[in-house]
Amino acid sequence: MRAVPVSDGIFWVGAIDWNLRDFHGYETPRGTTYNAYLVRGQNMTALIDTVKAPFVPELLSRIADVMDPAQIDLIVVNHVEPDHNGGLPAVMAACPNARVVASGSGVRGVAEYHDGLVVDPVSATDVIDLGGKTLQFLPMPMVHWPDSMFTYCAESRTLMPNDAFGQHMASSARFASEVGMDLALEELAIYYANILMPLGKQVTKAVEKVVATGWEIDVVAPAHGVIWRGEEFGRVLEAYGRWSQGETTEKAVVAYATMWGSTKALAESIADGIAAEGVQVYECDLTSTAIAQVTHELLEARALVLGSPTLHHGMLYKVSGYLTWLEGLHPAGKMGAVFGSYGWGGGAVKQITGRMEAIGFEMPIEPFSEKFRPTEDDLAAAHAWGRDIGKAIKDGASE
Ligand code: FEO
Repeated sequence: MRAVPVSDGIFWVGAIDWNLRDFHGYETPRGTTYNAYLVRGQNMTALIDTVKAPFVPELLSRIADVMDPAQIDLIVVNHVEPDHNGGLPAVMAACPNARVVASGSGVRGVAEYHDGLVVDPVSATDVIDLGGKTLQFLPMPMVHWPDSMFTYCAESRTLMPNDAFGQHMASSARFASEVGMDLALEELAIYYANILMPLGKQVTKAVEKVVATGWEIDVVAPAHGVIWRGEEFGRVLEAYGRWSQGETTEKAVVAYATMWGSTKALAESIADGIAAEGVQVYECDLTSTAIAQVTHELLEARALVLGSPTLHHGMLYKVSGYLTWLEGLHPAGKMGAVFGSYGWGGGAVKQITGRMEAIGFEMPIEPFSEKFRPTEDDLAAAHAWGRDIGKAIKDGASE
């Protein structure tokens, strides 16, 4: 299979997972790639990252397009999560002369994953000279695992930051300019929302750390999705800055599940009321909408308005499931509001309110509940409740 030149002496030799539809619990309708890179010096060649175990033959085939894998001298493990490190033992078997390095935490992670396998630690003070090409390392704890590390080749002005700045998107194209910046940035946002959202402080620190190195960077080659070149990376950094600071716009996500249509009817009136205040609305039924998509919409929204009917004294499990997802992502600086319908005994609205408060949503608006099928008056009241939310969003949304 084909290797793709990325920058001077650096080749993409990764694997394309066209059929991945779920990445540890969230939907990936466009699949993904596991990117690995060969850095060729005059004296040594390094492989930066491996791939998910079943994709090792593809990786080795792409390496063979450039050189004999057995001649690889160094393997850098930037991150021990199995989508990058799962194939390490098989790659080591094909590269018997290669020294393997990882961050201090990465050394422990490799041993944990691979039955005590011993690799060497590298740190920010190490430079490995490949002959006309050098590799430097920047440990990036919690962006997004303790072991995460960036690798930089100064001579090719290329940063290989593993998961950071990545996107889950399978494509025959390797560069953002080939798929178009709109799509690449949309996938960047989906990735950030569903993986990095709880790590805003660490992401801010990571960006500051990279800037502090003074490294000159023309190419940013992440471990998933397409590669950023030139000015494109400025847009990526600008977006990461906005998201890691939790900046929001005048937008609400109205998400709900429904049994017999009453909660759905309320949702529509509420969404209409919010929009009547000039606030952007994204409305969805959680039963049929991917959680990755809802969370992408929520990333820059000021408010989440969540609704459920009451079943067995509580909320529908699709709403509970989405709250479980948010309990992990811990969105900060957002407003919440809760609505729902019930037959003879409520319960869902109180339950949702408690869980949203525990996540950290500000809840300035009293919940809205309605019994059985909403009448015209009930829908008008829901619309007015929506307008109150719209006003609160306009009062509180950051610019
Ligand atoms: Fe792409 Fe954290 O693994």
